[in-house]
Amino acid sequence: MRIDIITVLPELLKSPFEASILKRAIEANLVEVHFHNLRDYTSDRYKSIDDTQFGGGAGMVMMIEPIDKCISALKEQRHYDEVIYMTPDGETLKQGIANQLSLKENIIILCGHYKGVDQRVRDHFITREISIGDYVLSGGELGAAVLCDAIIRLIPGVLGNETSALTDSFQDNLLAPPIYTKPREYKGWKVPELLFSGNFPKIEKWREEQAYLRTKERRPDLLED
Ligand code: ADE
Repeated sequence: MRIDIITVLPELLKSPFEASILKRAIEANLVEVHFHNLRDYTSDRYKSIDDTQFGGGAGMVMMIEPIDKCISALKEQRHYDEVIYMTPDGETLKQGIANQLSLKENIIILCGHYKGVDQRVRDHFITREISIGDYVLSGGELGAAVLCDAIIRLIPGVLGNETSALTDSFQDNLLAPPIYTKPREYKGWKVPELLFSGNFPKIEKWREEQAYLRTKERRPDLLED
């Protein structure tokens, strides 16, 4: 898989890809991530990427031309399955979206800034608009990092234990059950006895029940879908 991220602040985005699981995935060639600075696609000497709104109003708008130039240059090199725009008014990121996107070959992610982009960018270049939640960030970069992390960990081979992504919270519209490790008892707080029984069907059943109870208590909305 290849991800091309278009941003005015590449330095804000890079560090999540330089540590831990994402770094390993890149080093193992399971994913390529490329950053494109929008200012490299400007044509004036001030390297302008934004301007005031037609019709008046506070806040700057990202101009179509540098974005067109950058996306078109990428599209000349290869086919893209999706051109995603990170924006608070997009569809809210859910595990199902990450699952879908992890199966794609090439995607572009455009990070918005200021008031956002000229509507014509959204009308003519963008195939999918994603928000990471109902709050406004100062730019799309942190959202793009969140989206990339959620996608990349699902690519086969990225997580050590192949099954571990399948047992994450949300994979069956359920939260994950409680988990324990050594020591068996700490300050008198004990691990449920069943987990030492060696009765794996029973343990599995207990985990399913716990996942259900936790979901019912914390996120009943997930059970309605
Ligand atoms: N840009 C600004 N706020 C955002 C959000 N909540 N999700 C994605 N991109 C954003």
